[in-house]
Amino acid sequence: MNEILKQIADVGVVPVVKLDSPDQALPLGQALVDGDLPVAEITFRTDAAEESIRRLTGELPDLLVGAGTVLTVEQARRAVGAGAKFLVSPGFNPSVVQFCIANGVPVIPGINSPSQIERGIEMGVSVLKFFPAEPSGGLDMLKAFAGPYTGVSYVPTGGINAANMKNYLAFNKVLAVGGSWMVKPELVAAGRFEEISRLCREAVMGALGFELRHVGINEPDADTSLTEATLMCDLFGFALKEGNSSNFAGTAFEFMKTPYLGMNGHIALSTLSVDRAVAFLARKGIGTRPETEKRDAEGSLTVAYLDREIGGFALHLLKR
Ligand code: 3PG
Repeated sequence: MNEILKQIADVGVVPVVKLDSPDQALPLGQALVDGDLPVAEITFRTDAAEESIRRLTGELPDLLVGAGTVLTVEQARRAVGAGAKFLVSPGFNPSVVQFCIANGVPVIPGINSPSQIERGIEMGVSVLKFFPAEPSGGLDMLKAFAGPYTGVSYVPTGGINAANMKNYLAFNKVLAVGGSWMVKPELVAAGRFEEISRLCREAVMGALGFELRHVGINEPDADTSLTEATLMCDLFGFALKEGNSSNFAGTAFEFMKTPYLGMNGHIALSTLSVDRAVAFLARKGIGTRPETEKRDAEGSLTVAYLDREIGGFALHLLKR
């Protein structure tokens, strides 16, 4: 996949930003970075777009800046000239798509019908904006698209919010979701950048969807593992499940038959996307133990241990 599109997938959320003045650009961009959401789609809905993109790309190197609502080739040219790294449009405009292909700029054109998807496929576009997502039939519509069109992924946008984003992101044809709910124009106009950061952080955590899956406890040998797992079941009413390398008491407690990673054991966290979780944690300076990584047939990570322990427990990521 194109490196820019991969960066978008690794964040999972694209804020759709409308700025009335270029003076709002840097505080807004900083609020996104502070909220762990280092992507912005600056829309050409106002005259401030071009200069805002120029300032953001010049001053905030950690922010991936694209242009949105690109309706004409002229706007596409201005956006790219100002430094936009990707372009998004609400509909499928072949001239804009052609310009982007010719200039090697990733483009995410809007579609909401099979015919439009086929135009995209014909022109070699593999990521499409599903717009407006909710009024066009939402996740059910997208799942129906995925039947005939297997090689395409989508950025649903339009009516997405903190509550419904997770359902979209749990579908493997969804590269990321887009929306304005965390960068509402009224918040920008009122200079409420801390609130924007809070909403961004909430969106990012929603895209990661971390949940505690189980606690793994290192035992010295198989006999002790079984004795302790059985005790846990007797005391608290869990069902015993014997396995090859460990025994489970219910689903929350795993008793290893030989000591594995972590001084005391491991904490397993499930996530909507291990790739996205690994990218997020890398931005926090935490890496994985490469020998523990597992991938599915499509190359997506399903399992990884982190190179950091907490409280003597290794941290184990699992795809939900
Ligand atoms: C867009 O053009 O992408 C939409 O305006 C974003 O939709 P939303 O405001 O419903 O999030």
